[in-house]
Amino acid sequence: MSKQWWHNAVVYQIYPRSFMDANGDGCGDLAGITQRLDYLAGLGVDAVWISPFFTSPMVDNGYDISDYRGIDPRFGTLEDFDALVARANQLNIKILLDLVLNHSSDQHPWFKAALADPASHYRDYYIFKKPAANGGPPNNWRSIFGGSAWQLDDASGEYYLHVFAKEQPDLNWENPRLRQELYDVVDWWLDRGVSGFRMDAITYIKKDPSYPSLPPDGPDGLADLSPGTQTRPGIGAFLTEMRDTVFGPRNVFTVAEATGVPPQQLADFIGDDGYFTTIFDFNYCDIDIQPGGIWHARSGHTVGQLRQAVYESQQASLAVGQCAIMLENHDLPRALERYLPAGLHTDAAAKALGTVSMFLRGIPFLYQGQELGARNFPWENMDQFDDVSTKDQYQRALDAGHSSRRAFELVCLRSRDNARVPMLWHDGPGGGFTTGRPWLPLHPDAPARNVKNQEQDPTSVLNYYKKLLALHRGEYCALFYSGGFEACPHKDEGVFAYLRTAGGTTILVVANISLQQAEGVFPQGKVLLGTHRQTGMRTGNTLALCPMEAVVLRCE
Ligand code: GLC
Repeated sequence: MSKQWWHNAVVYQIYPRSFMDANGDGCGDLAGITQRLDYLAGLGVDAVWISPFFTSPMVDNGYDISDYRGIDPRFGTLEDFDALVARANQLNIKILLDLVLNHSSDQHPWFKAALADPASHYRDYYIFKKPAANGGPPNNWRSIFGGSAWQLDDASGEYYLHVFAKEQPDLNWENPRLRQELYDVVDWWLDRGVSGFRMDAITYIKKDPSYPSLPPDGPDGLADLSPGTQTRPGIGAFLTEMRDTVFGPRNVFTVAEATGVPPQQLADFIGDDGYFTTIFDFNYCDIDIQPGGIWHARSGHTVGQLRQAVYESQQASLAVGQCAIMLENHDLPRALERYLPAGLHTDAAAKALGTVSMFLRGIPFLYQGQELGARNFPWENMDQFDDVSTKDQYQRALDAGHSSRRAFELVCLRSRDNARVPMLWHDGPGGGFTTGRPWLPLHPDAPARNVKNQEQDPTSVLNYYKKLLALHRGEYCALFYSGGFEACPHKDEGVFAYLRTAGGTTILVVANISLQQAEGVFPQGKVLLGTHRQTGMRTGNTLALCPMEAVVLRCE
């Protein structure tokens, strides 16, 4: 494939509600993003993915869309959007939108029409089923946000399916007219100047047509709905059609939230002939909890297990294509607390972890605040949370027998709101985020961990991230994107070390994510970047690493 802009890109994710508020209503907006594009250009990002800002009742913070072509008034207007694209173009920053095509809001006109008139053609845009023989829901699937995945439509006596909240009815991709409507939406935004899309929950669009009940896996008698709804046989026909109809002809970048893709199907999803340009590598994001996504089921993982998962994930995509590499997003608590044990939640660890992540094979994605070394929020009580999932997971922890105090502690570790509290720009009132009352509380870190302070401090996480991005976009960008990956074994579980190679050039990335000194025999070379002033200290072949030291070097 010829060279594309994303081959050396670093993408930055913006959660618009919490990034920058230009009009003082406490909620971030598009004009605020435009104001801060210069900051992003200075950081060195090539593209931004903006989480949804479309018209929405905000049950799931914009992932419930009631008008795919409208801007929610909280975020501004279409003119604001056009101004954002225009400024981004001047700065050579691509704009990626979040396409939520598995479900709409229950306030979408299609769904309202479907409810108002079961004979309308809009009824078949959604998934309505008759009750089971006992009059209850058609099967025992549990929604991802808790409770039955079926909601009764009183008027008709039928149930509709919602994989997520009941206010997010699933769209029926079996209906060709619905699919065409969605493709028209994509075209409409492409015509407005966007360069690509992040595809929300896209592996859920094909359901098991027999809608079987599954073996219950909880005291509620319900079952995880993934086997009936995720990466189902036949999904490839939908994804191929979408690629060939809207993305392929306009050379659009797509990154999919494609959970549940088994390794043997990875080649269908990414690579030159994949359904998407790339998909997120989620293989180690949830390493702190047990498989199944239940927050209170902690895994008690070690740093060594994290290292192993990172290496295995890199190996899995090697022959196939590139994944989107990320440490954080809007659905995850902050990386330091999620990946590393207490005692290692420091700025030094943020730099070391950032180094390990940035030079993995694939396309790096950063999430707002990650470049400041952001920490989880010190929550005080359940009333502070906004996130629909946090409330559900709290209830699940109680149902599993945890005390209310313990259930609260457990959701604090995992709440999606940890990453959704406002971005901190300076230490003045409102953290520079707003002149009003912020929709989620400001982090008490504001006086120390904000953009302005970190810009002035040469040793800050932010200034280190600028160096990471500068190295990434320099002469080795092709090597970082698609060069070989080889892990270097090391007896200390905190020592992450790998080689990246292409065209006779080898780069060594090594980080000692621990509180002990470490040393190892690694290739010699020229230091390109390091966390420590006298980085890359050697005695003969032996490289000595301080606690939390990371080094990137070009091997001789
Ligand atoms: C994706 C989004 C998440 C949202 C869900 C439902 O997982 O990242 O924030 O709640 O889809 O749209």
